[in-house]
Amino acid sequence: MKNRKCLVINGPNLNRLGKREPGIYGAQTLEDLQAELVSFSRGLLMDLSFEQSNNEGDIIDFIHGAEGEFCGIVLNAGAYTHYSYAIRDAIASVDVPVIEVHLSNVHAREEFRRESVIAPVTIGQISGFGFDSYRLALQVFHNQQKGDTL
Ligand code: DQA
Repeated sequence: MKNRKCLVINGPNLNRLGKREPGIYGAQTLEDLQAELVSFSRGLLMDLSFEQSNNEGDIIDFIHGAEGEFCGIVLNAGAYTHYSYAIRDAIASVDVPVIEVHLSNVHAREEFRRESVIAPVTIGQISGFGFDSYRLALQVFHNQQKGDTL
Protein backbone atom coordinates (compact mmCIF):
# COMPACT_ATOMS: atom_id res chain seq x y z
CA MET A 1 0.00 0.00 0.00
CA LYS A 2 1.27 3.50 -0.86
CA ASN A 3 0.01 6.64 0.88
CA ARG A 4 -2.19 5.61 3.83
CA LYS A 5 -3.23 9.07 4.96
CA CYS A 6 -6.82 10.26 4.52
CA LEU A 7 -8.30 13.62 5.37
CA VAL A 8 -11.82 13.81 6.80
CA ILE A 9 -13.41 17.24 6.35
CA ASN A 10 -16.67 18.19 8.03
CA GLY A 11 -18.39 21.38 6.97
CA PRO A 12 -20.93 23.75 8.48
CA ASN A 13 -23.02 22.77 11.48
CA LEU A 14 -21.37 19.37 11.84
CA ASN A 15 -19.69 20.66 15.01
CA ARG A 16 -23.27 20.65 16.37
CA LEU A 17 -23.67 16.88 16.04
CA GLY A 18 -25.30 15.43 19.15
CA LYS A 19 -27.28 18.64 19.74
CA ARG A 20 -28.45 19.36 16.22
CA GLU A 21 -31.72 17.68 15.06
CA PRO A 22 -30.90 14.38 16.80
CA GLY A 23 -33.86 12.69 15.11
CA ILE A 24 -32.02 13.13 11.81
CA TYR A 25 -28.35 13.19 12.75
CA GLY A 26 -28.29 11.06 15.91
CA ALA A 27 -27.16 11.70 19.48
CA GLN A 28 -23.44 11.22 18.98
CA THR A 29 -21.04 14.15 18.68
CA LEU A 30 -18.36 15.08 16.17
CA GLU A 31 -15.78 13.93 18.73
CA ASP A 32 -17.53 10.54 18.90
CA LEU A 33 -17.43 10.32 15.10
CA GLN A 34 -13.73 11.13 14.98
CA ALA A 35 -12.90 8.63 17.74
CA GLU A 36 -14.85 5.87 15.98
CA LEU A 37 -13.12 6.62 12.68
CA VAL A 38 -9.68 6.55 14.28
CA SER A 39 -10.43 3.14 15.72
CA PHE A 40 -11.82 1.90 12.37
CA SER A 41 -8.81 3.23 10.45
CA ARG A 42 -6.40 1.31 12.72
CA GLY A 43 -7.90 -1.93 11.40
CA LEU A 44 -7.22 -0.67 7.87
CA LEU A 45 -3.70 0.49 8.78
CA MET A 46 -4.61 4.00 7.67
CA ASP A 47 -3.82 7.37 9.24
CA LEU A 48 -6.52 10.00 9.53
CA SER A 49 -6.50 13.76 9.92
CA PHE A 50 -9.61 15.77 10.71
CA GLU A 51 -10.79 19.25 9.87
CA GLN A 52 -14.07 20.99 10.56
CA SER A 53 -15.16 24.49 9.64
CA ASN A 54 -18.33 26.46 9.26
CA ASN A 55 -16.66 28.64 6.60
CA GLU A 56 -16.50 27.98 2.89
CA GLY A 57 -13.02 29.49 2.44
CA ASP A 58 -11.54 27.25 5.15
CA ILE A 59 -12.95 24.16 3.46
CA ILE A 60 -11.42 25.30 0.16
CA ASP A 61 -8.05 25.77 1.90
CA PHE A 62 -8.25 22.29 3.48
CA ILE A 63 -8.89 20.79 0.04
CA HIS A 64 -5.98 22.70 -1.58
CA GLY A 65 -3.67 21.70 1.27
CA ALA A 66 -4.44 18.01 0.81
CA GLU A 67 -2.61 17.72 -2.50
CA GLY A 68 0.55 15.65 -2.12
CA GLU A 69 -0.34 14.89 1.51
CA PHE A 70 -3.32 12.56 1.43
CA CYS A 71 -4.47 9.62 -0.68
CA GLY A 72 -8.07 10.79 -0.40
CA ILE A 73 -10.53 13.18 1.17
CA VAL A 74 -13.79 12.17 2.84
CA LEU A 75 -15.91 15.30 2.61
CA ASN A 76 -19.18 16.10 4.31
CA ALA A 77 -19.70 19.63 3.01
CA GLY A 78 -23.03 20.00 4.82
CA ALA A 79 -25.38 22.44 3.11
CA TYR A 80 -22.51 23.72 0.91
CA THR A 81 -22.96 20.46 -0.97
CA HIS A 82 -26.08 21.86 -2.56
CA TYR A 83 -24.81 25.23 -3.81
CA SER A 84 -21.08 25.87 -3.39
CA TYR A 85 -19.52 26.15 -6.82
CA ALA A 86 -16.38 27.38 -5.07
CA ILE A 87 -15.98 24.06 -3.20
CA ARG A 88 -16.78 22.22 -6.41
CA ASP A 89 -14.00 24.12 -8.21
CA ALA A 90 -11.57 23.50 -5.32
CA ILE A 91 -12.14 19.74 -5.63
CA ALA A 92 -11.61 19.94 -9.40
CA SER A 93 -8.39 21.91 -8.86
CA VAL A 94 -6.53 19.21 -6.91
CA ASP A 95 -5.23 15.80 -7.80
CA VAL A 96 -6.73 14.08 -4.76
CA PRO A 97 -9.82 11.85 -4.98
CA VAL A 98 -12.78 13.04 -2.93
CA ILE A 99 -15.72 10.98 -1.67
CA GLU A 100 -18.83 12.96 -0.73
CA VAL A 101 -20.53 11.64 2.40
CA HIS A 102 -23.74 12.45 4.26
CA LEU A 103 -25.08 11.13 7.53
CA SER A 104 -28.68 11.41 6.36
CA ASN A 105 -30.16 10.20 3.08
CA VAL A 106 -30.19 13.51 1.22
CA HIS A 107 -32.40 11.99 -1.49
CA ALA A 108 -35.19 11.24 0.98
CA ARG A 109 -35.44 14.73 2.45
CA GLU A 110 -36.27 18.20 1.15
CA GLU A 111 -36.07 18.75 -2.60
CA PHE A 112 -33.09 21.15 -2.34
CA ARG A 113 -30.94 18.43 -0.74
CA ARG A 114 -31.29 16.17 -3.76
CA GLU A 115 -28.93 18.25 -5.81
CA SER A 116 -25.20 18.05 -5.14
CA VAL A 117 -23.10 20.51 -7.12
CA ILE A 118 -19.94 18.75 -5.91
CA ALA A 119 -20.90 15.17 -6.87
CA PRO A 120 -19.71 15.49 -10.50
CA VAL A 121 -16.13 16.18 -9.38
CA THR A 122 -16.01 13.47 -6.69
CA ILE A 123 -15.38 9.78 -7.24
CA GLY A 124 -18.69 8.98 -5.55
CA GLN A 125 -21.34 9.83 -3.02
CA ILE A 126 -22.34 7.83 0.10
CA SER A 127 -25.48 9.07 1.79
CA GLY A 128 -27.80 7.85 4.52
CA PHE A 129 -25.74 5.51 6.69
CA GLY A 130 -24.82 7.75 9.63
CA PHE A 131 -21.23 7.23 10.76
CA ASP A 132 -21.05 4.21 8.45
CA SER A 133 -21.11 6.62 5.48
CA TYR A 134 -17.62 7.73 6.55
CA ARG A 135 -16.45 4.18 7.28
CA LEU A 136 -17.57 3.04 3.83
CA ALA A 137 -15.66 5.91 2.22
CA LEU A 138 -12.49 5.01 4.15
CA GLN A 139 -12.90 1.39 3.10
CA VAL A 140 -13.01 2.53 -0.55
CA PHE A 141 -9.75 4.46 -0.18
CA HIS A 142 -8.18 1.49 1.58
CA ASN A 143 -9.22 -0.84 -1.25
CA GLN A 144 -7.93 1.61 -3.84
CA GLN A 145 -4.54 1.81 -2.17
CA LYS A 146 -4.38 -1.99 -2.12
CA GLY A 147 -5.41 -2.03 -5.78
CA ASP A 148 -8.60 -3.95 -4.99
CA THR A 149 -11.04 -1.77 -6.91
CA LEU A 150 -13.09 -2.80 -9.93
C1 DQA B 1 -25.71 16.57 5.63
C2 DQA B 1 -26.94 16.80 4.73
C3 DQA B 1 -27.01 18.24 4.28
O1 DQA B 1 -28.14 18.44 3.45
C4 DQA B 1 -27.14 19.15 5.49
O2 DQA B 1 -27.15 20.49 5.09
C5 DQA B 1 -26.06 18.89 6.50
C6 DQA B 1 -25.72 17.52 6.82
C7 DQA B 1 -25.67 15.13 6.19
O3 DQA B 1 -24.60 14.74 6.66
O4 DQA B 1 -26.67 14.43 6.18
O5 DQA B 1 -25.54 19.82 7.11
O6 DQA B 1 -24.54 16.78 4.86
